[in-house]
Amino acid sequence: MISNSTIDKIFSTARIEEVIGEFVSLKKSGSNYKGLSPFTEEKTPSFFVSPSKQIFKCFSSGVGGNVVKFLMELEHMTYPEALRFLAEKYNIEIEEEGTTPEEDAERSERESLYIVTKFAEDFFIEKLHSEEGIAVGLSYFKERGFSTETIEKFKLGYSPDLWDAFLKEALEKGYKEEYLIKTGLIKESSNGKKYDGYKGRVIFPIHNLSGRPIGFGGRTLKTDKKVPKYINSPESEIYDKSNVLYGLYQAKGEVIKQDNCLLVEGYTDVTSLAQSGITNVVSSSGTSLTQGQIRLISRYTKNITILYDGDAAGIKASFRGIDLILEEGLNVKIVLFPEGEDPDSYSKKLGSEELKTFIEENAKDFIVFKSGVLLKDTKGDPIKKSGIIHDIVNSISFIPDHITRSLYIKECSNILDIPEKALIGELNKLRKNRLDKKIREKERGASTPPLPDNVPLPTDENETQNQFFEDVKELAAFDFEFQERDIVRLLLNYGQDTIVVEIENEETGEQEEVETILANYIISEILSDELVFKNPAYQQIFDEYVDLFASEKEISQQHFINHTNELISKMTVDLLSFPYDLHEWEKKNIFVTTEKDKLVKAGKGAIYSLKTKHIQKLIAELQEQIKSAYEKGEDFYQFQGKQVKLENIKRELSKEQGITILR
Ligand code: UTP
Ligand code: MN
Repeated sequence: MISNSTIDKIFSTARIEEVIGEFVSLKKSGSNYKGLSPFTEEKTPSFFVSPSKQIFKCFSSGVGGNVVKFLMELEHMTYPEALRFLAEKYNIEIEEEGTTPEEDAERSERESLYIVTKFAEDFFIEKLHSEEGIAVGLSYFKERGFSTETIEKFKLGYSPDLWDAFLKEALEKGYKEEYLIKTGLIKESSNGKKYDGYKGRVIFPIHNLSGRPIGFGGRTLKTDKKVPKYINSPESEIYDKSNVLYGLYQAKGEVIKQDNCLLVEGYTDVTSLAQSGITNVVSSSGTSLTQGQIRLISRYTKNITILYDGDAAGIKASFRGIDLILEEGLNVKIVLFPEGEDPDSYSKKLGSEELKTFIEENAKDFIVFKSGVLLKDTKGDPIKKSGIIHDIVNSISFIPDHITRSLYIKECSNILDIPEKALIGELNKLRKNRLDKKIREKERGASTPPLPDNVPLPTDENETQNQFFEDVKELAAFDFEFQERDIVRLLLNYGQDTIVVEIENEETGEQEEVETILANYIISEILSDELVFKNPAYQQIFDEYVDLFASEKEISQQHFINHTNELISKMTVDLLSFPYDLHEWEKKNIFVTTEKDKLVKAGKGAIYSLKTKHIQKLIAELQEQIKSAYEKGEDFYQFQGKQVKLENIKRELSKEQGITILR
């Protein structure tokens, strides 16, 4: 288990805006950062990160929390995985507490696979600089024109040409054979003999978005046609090929900056272009482009440029990928390289500036590209031509946005010399067919039950936490919810802010202005009337706040945001105010008064509402008692006396507040 002091250190060191910035393109917006939510497919940004509070909030999906919660939600890490990830990123040494070597060994399989893969990456890098590595691997990379910088950036490596170089070292270091085999690093022959999976190959590690190695492509250096050119890692719990793009970790910053992502075929196309200074490049490494991969790109940009080498088979294969990209609402352009050239070879022929210009000048819109390619072999054959029209309109029909669709229809009509009307008719038919099909599929498919709201953390506190969740759920619907919530919200947001209140000087009897903090006012009001929160979560936050306050410890929102009780943490994040950008309003000359400016009023109002609620409840209970006493023919005057008292208190309260209650 990770020690508490390590956890504290991780939370105080990690910067949420830095960590999230690696996954989401964030723009400064007032005191916050704003971006497109990675949890939904939204087109307008509603994802906010607050550097001062160290929280994020996605307004379209409702997900919010601290930096650990973000990693758990997006990367599907477990709580300890997320902490370990952050510790590694910020070079924090992890202090383990109360674990035995056996327990260490039992750490989740995922984490083990990550660790083995990282070990292998380091091993291959080290071997690239061994005597054999320099002579064979490094000289190969140098021959291909890769600089030391490029080799380091992509963490390229070399696996010695021995049957067990890696196997021996990994077993010596205590790595389990099971994980070595699951990651494909070690293979097993039919007679049970185990050997290095990447023997004698140069290594291209594949990274996930946080930069952890998750797999490898190993290229042979032999020209023997019988040897597979590349050996790729098998899919595993950490390597899901359809949701990974080679080079995206290295490219994402530049993809954001250029607002465009270049898509190529192979590992060496990525590295060669990067070597030429074109660094917004990724490749789908051996698989055909998937929806998951397009969605990965769409987190960073809405523009994809596909770079193709000039062979016909490749071009035809690209059409399906184009439709997929269009369907995701992204823009796609295509660059066709001259016959016999690919991005890798061409980057060596042209200088880096020339290559950039070539790509810019030759990037064709998909419709121009597709009709050009297809029209080439129709030679005026009307039947073939009608097939092409169908094919192109089919592509256009995948575009979700109707304005974009109609612009493309116009262009298509020009290029193919067909009246727009005919194309629109065809388009509508296609779209309707697809919609019908979707509806039919939906009707057939059984709906999966929704996930429960609160999935508790895997800690030994589960038992008590579950009970806590039950209590809270039951009481959340209770009618004190709004008042209690507001009190806790004010405490968490503005508790430490200074307010000025008027109090009566006990000696002189005069009103005096006194400076205090809002928490002081709220706490003394609640405690002096011995009010108890109906919702145990609010009570717990309040109690902890009072404890911190009483011990004169610094009260930070982080204490509650990073609370080990997941529900407390979630509630805190929900309650922390996360104002939408006020900028727009200011521009329009609309004066915005913030709640902070009116703290005294807000605090008094909240206390007043809560107390009134309590009194109303007491009155209602009394009335029940009066009614039942009356029905039983018992004496009920004592209750009436109490009721009068309560009504008086209520009136006093409202006077203080300057509000008359009509009732
Ligand atoms: P290429 O044959 O074009 O390889 O295959 P490359 O990356 O350009 O390598 P060089 O330049 O010839 O050295 C393109 C991609 O297809 C996958 C790899 O992802 C490769 O990068 N591939 C190819 C395999 O997975 N296995 C193979 O045997 C061949
Ligand atoms: Mn190639």
